[in-house]
Formats: sequence, structure tokens, C-alpha cells
Amino acid sequence: MHTLKLIATLAACTLQVLAQNGNQDWDLAYAKAEQALAQLSQSEKIGIVTGVGWNQQPNGPCISNTSPASSINYPALCLHDGPQGVRWAEDVTAFTPAVQAASTWDRHLMWERGLFLGEEFRGKGIHVILGPAPGALGKNPNGGRNWEGFSPDPYLQGIGTKLTVEGIQGAGVQAAAKHFIANEQEVNREEISSNVDDRTMHELYLWPFADAIHANVASVMCSYNRVNGTHACENSEVLNHLLKDEMGFPGYVMSDWFVAQQTTSGSANAGMDMATPGSDWGGGNQLWGPRLQQAIDQGQVPQSRLEDMVRRILAAWYLLGQDQGFPSINFGRDVQADHAANVRAIARDGTVLLKNDDNILPLQSPRRVAVIGSSSVPNPNGVNSCTDHGCDRGALGMGWGSGSVTYPYFVAPFEAITTQAQADGFQVVSSTTDNLNAGATAARDADVAIVFITANSGEAYITVEGNPGDRINLDPWHNGNGLVEAVAAVNRNVIVVVHSTGPVVLERILAQPNVKAIVWGGLPSQENGNAVVDVIWGKVNPNGKLPYTIARSMNDYGSTSIFQGLQDNFDEGLYVDYRHFDAQGISPRYEFGYGLSFTTFEYSDLHIDSDAFPGPAMGDTVPGGREDLFFDVMTVSATVKNTGNVEGAEVAQLYISLPDSAPETPPKQLRGFDKLRLAPGESGVVTFEVRQKDLSYWDVELQNWVVPMGTFRIHVGASSRDIRLQEDVDIKC
Ligand code: BGC
Repeated sequence: MHTLKLIATLAACTLQVLAQNGNQDWDLAYAKAEQALAQLSQSEKIGIVTGVGWNQQPNGPCISNTSPASSINYPALCLHDGPQGVRWAEDVTAFTPAVQAASTWDRHLMWERGLFLGEEFRGKGIHVILGPAPGALGKNPNGGRNWEGFSPDPYLQGIGTKLTVEGIQGAGVQAAAKHFIANEQEVNREEISSNVDDRTMHELYLWPFADAIHANVASVMCSYNRVNGTHACENSEVLNHLLKDEMGFPGYVMSDWFVAQQTTSGSANAGMDMATPGSDWGGGNQLWGPRLQQAIDQGQVPQSRLEDMVRRILAAWYLLGQDQGFPSINFGRDVQADHAANVRAIARDGTVLLKNDDNILPLQSPRRVAVIGSSSVPNPNGVNSCTDHGCDRGALGMGWGSGSVTYPYFVAPFEAITTQAQADGFQVVSSTTDNLNAGATAARDADVAIVFITANSGEAYITVEGNPGDRINLDPWHNGNGLVEAVAAVNRNVIVVVHSTGPVVLERILAQPNVKAIVWGGLPSQENGNAVVDVIWGKVNPNGKLPYTIARSMNDYGSTSIFQGLQDNFDEGLYVDYRHFDAQGISPRYEFGYGLSFTTFEYSDLHIDSDAFPGPAMGDTVPGGREDLFFDVMTVSATVKNTGNVEGAEVAQLYISLPDSAPETPPKQLRGFDKLRLAPGESGVVTFEVRQKDLSYWDVELQNWVVPMGTFRIHVGASSRDIRLQEDVDIKC
């Protein structure tokens, strides 16, 4: 809408009265930080903002460590990877990657995963966890690190991130949302420029960070890439303006490791607050430390900027209560408690049933089961034998890189199926390589053949089987297509289980009529095999849904990592994942939000209760942005009934289409989800609280979020393409 029209609209509208609360937690933390700051010497201030190296004694065992300040009893801060658990440590839980948690669409499990992560970091005496990782958003389906985040949908990414931050910080550990921002690929990640237009930046990439900040995230890590030409950690527009001014971020910005920080004064003046790990690979070349002092002495960086950095870092420390009774660093403690239960639940409930012809699943008393594929067994060299899981040998539980975790144990499918066989008394035959003939031989006389295939990705510093972090294509690895074809040629009951960091093109597999079922195992970490058995043997009614689109071809996505060149113009704009498929009328193979169940659900009774007004956001800025953006302004509810014969859980999804008065916007966007467990015949009500921001677009002229005036279409359904209920609602003055 044009500005004048908008002002006219506004004049006609009753202004909402806004509560002006600010944020009392941060206010208190800032008051303490101010007092502490007054007691610090100049060198202590420099020490607080400068890392002293990584994972090297005598500097400290963490991936970054800063200097202590004895005058205020401030410790050498320990910052450590990563979003899936404590890296490079024994006696820890290897939590499921975030993408698997997103596949559950279960808010409690996401929050609990965060809480348990926080408990494990705290138990080891780590002050700051380097996660969660809402950027990469995952606009490129082959993006190497997408699995460390939740979903290419900003709403799902935002809710997952917020719940994780609440969980982690609820355990008294500082979370660091990373990587800020538009860090969408691994290839050339340290040089590529993400050239993003203002609206797309807000509606897709800043969106989940705003949720993290609103949840009081202590820290944000700026990314390696350039944003519109300037490195993110040297980019005042990104850090000072978007993050700190517009989104009101009260915490501190740390650099991504080593080269994300390029200069002494540039990074300081752009709004970076902590140099991590503060050195180069060899431990030398500190850009801050004495060089920051020199820059201050020469008037290149104001002293007030240093004090702002320190204030922010101390405030975060006080916010989390880390000044009182925080455990000393001890990587030797066993911190696992009963956290494996959360891994099992997410591995299981994040498994998505894609296809189930003839209701082959759950299996009904097979006598002979063939288990096929190298990923049905653990890595023969040891489940932790590859540095940072940088290989694709054996069953897959997570991708590779700094976000990987040492498995405390690993249950592969063969072991779990063998255990089931002992209980049920069926025979297991196997072929534990990817050899086609051996696979076919094992499958030939079996009642059912289960074929395990993978696709893997990770962080740029390791290349695996020709994949430099980002995947070079979306095919199954190790000729998984060929293996399935060979097995399907000799067996009529083939079940394919896919473990993957992201979407895989399944067309050759689906062309085999003997492939009766496809189970999308995702990334189940240490509970891999148990989750497979839970679903295939029907101990659970599958209830995960896809947190991304599975296309018929990689070209269908409209955006992939750029392997040649250093400019990514983000030409797809807002049209990422299902937004692109919907707008272009491309039919996906399995759409965003899709997943089968052993039962069926019926939707009815859509209710919409709206207090929303058109117009721009007008609240004071609180952590996350203008306060009113986070107010609930609409409640949508619907009845869901389990119409089948078994208990099941349904993930109902709310999508909203903006009125015509808004500038061109994707046809519909996810703006809510709710999961209900229902007995056969039972009904329940799903409820979606819609925030003002969920109804808004970013107005580039006004530089503000605006609720457009007119008719919004509300869609409630079982997936992004299986809409069951629709109604229009007018938002006007
Ligand atoms: C990664 C970060 C990680 C850091 C420390 C960087 O290369 O991008 O995600 O936290 O290393 O390991």
C-alpha cells in the first residue's frame, strides 16, 4: 500500500493502546552490569571482549575462552559448540538435529530438547552454547548446514528457535543464535555476498532471529558471508541498525570463528562485541586485544563503544544468573541423565511416513525380513571414527561439522531389528553393504525387504565424497537408487528408509511398483534404529510431517547453492520452498507439512476470533522489535476427529493469505501449528494464536511492519497442500 493511503487508513483506525513494559529481566541485568563496569580496569575490559584462543591449554578447553576479571569475580568465559550437544566430549547426549525436532512439530519436545541441552552444557561448566542455528534458513535444499536449523519456513524456524532458547536459558546457559545473517551456503562461505532485498531480509531471514531475541537470547553470532557486499561482522547496517536498533537486541554479538572478523576498528564500529576465538588458527594475529586498545588510543574506536561491548556481555552473564554458583569447567562430568528419552521421542515422532501402499505398514508378522544397505549397520570403523562425523559410512544420525557430537552409543537399524526379531521370532537376513547383487540375493526370498539409504551434508571445512559441505545434487548417496531398483526387481514388498540431512529426489525409487512404503527417518542421532523399528513395527503411529518440500527434481526448487561465483542475488526473494512451488504452480512430490498416519483425521468447525487492526506496528521497541508485533491478535481454532481405528497424533497447520492490498506476497504462509493426540473416534480442538507480526508484511517505504487492510484468507489443513477448512476474515478499522 502506498504511504499516503496507509496514513489515511491509520487516521481512520482506532489506535491500539500499548502496554509499555520494556523488559525487566534485561533492565535488572543492565543495572548490575553498570555497577560492575565501574569497577573494571581498562585491560580487564579489553580481556572480556577478546577471546584468547580455542581449545588449547593454557587458554582454556573451550572452543573460545576469554580472560577473567578478578575485580568483579568474572570468570574466563567458556563458549563451546554446538546446537546438537557438547562437541568433543564424552558422556554427553548426541541430541537429534534441529531439523528432526522440527519434523515432530511438537512444541514440548522442542523446548525439552533445549532444556536438556542447557543442562548438559551447564553440567560441564560451559557458559555459552554456540546455538541454536536459525541461519541458514535453508533456502537452498542442498545447503550443507540446513540440518542444524529447523526449517526453511521462517515461522517454523522461529518457533523452534524460540523454544530452544527458552529451554537452554531456562537451564541457566547463554544461547547464541547463529549465523547472522543470510548465511545460506557453505561453498565459498567466507567470501560470498548474500545480496538480499529489504523485504526478503525481514520476512524470511531476520524473522526467526527476532523470535530468538524476543525470547531474550543472550548472544548472536555474526556470520562469515558478506551481506550486500560487506562482511556480516563488519556490517553496521546489519549489526547496528537491523539487529540492535530495529530488533532491540540487548545482548552481545560474537564473531564466527577466525575470518568472520576482518578488521580491528571496522568490526568494533559495526557493532561486533566479542572476538571469538580471538586468534587465527595458529593462536596469533589478534585483531582485538592490544590492537583494539591501540585503535581506541588513536581515536578510531570510541572508548564508549568498548564500554557498550562490556556492558552487553556482562548483562547477558547476569541475565542468566551465571554470577551465582555456576559450575566450574569440567568436561569429565557425565551429564546425560535421562536425556536419551528426548532423543528417542524426537527420532520417533520426527519420522515421516511418506508412502504406505496396501497398508504394508505396520508390518504384520513377517517370517523373513531382509535388511539391506551399508547404512543399516554402524560405521564399521567405529561410530565416532570420522573427525566431526565427516564421512558417510554406516547408519546416519547427523550431518558433519562443528555441529556434530560424539555419540555416547548408537543403535543402528540392524541391531534394533534383530532385537525385534528375537522378541517376535522372525528371521533376519542381511546385506550390509551397498552392493547391488548382494542386496538382491538377500532380498530374494524374504517376505519383506527393508532398504536403507542416505544423503549427507555438513560444514565447509570437510569435503565428503565430493560434497564440499553443500550437496552437489539431491540424489541418494552410494547409488541408493540403484540399490533400491536391484532389490525391487526381486522382492514385491520393499520398504525404503531414508536418513538424510535434507530433501532427496525420490523419483527413481517411486518408479518401482514394488516399493510399497517409504519411511523418512531424517536425522535420528543415537536412536536411529529404535525409531525405525518403532514406526515399521507400529509401536508408534507415525506422526511426523515434513519441515521442507521434497521435489520431483532439484531444478524445481528455484534456488540452490552457488558453486561458481561470489554473488548470490537471492533472486527467489520471498519464494523459498513451498512459497515458490505454490506461486509457480509446480507440483511437489511430497509437500511441506506432509506426512501419513495409520489412521485418518477429519477437520471441522473453523472459528476465527480477530482483534486485529490494519496499519503499521506502533509499539516501543523491546527485544525482538516493536512490542505489538508479538501480541496475539487473532485466535483460530478447529475440531479434529480421529476417524480411524487406532490412536494417532495429527499436526494441524494454519496458513494465511494476505489481502490484495498487500504488495505481492506468496499465496499462503505458515502462521501456526498444533499437534493433538487422539484415540479412535475422539475429537479435540486445535488452537492457533496469531500474533500481529503473523499478519504483517514488511513495508520498505515505511520501514515498518504493516497489517494490510482487507480480506485475509485463513486455511487450516493437514499439510500445505491438503487444506481442509478455509474462511475469509476482513481486517478493517
Ligand atoms: C562455525 C560455527 C562454530 C564455530 C566454532 C565455525 O566454523 O561456523 O558454527 O560455532 O566454527 O566451532
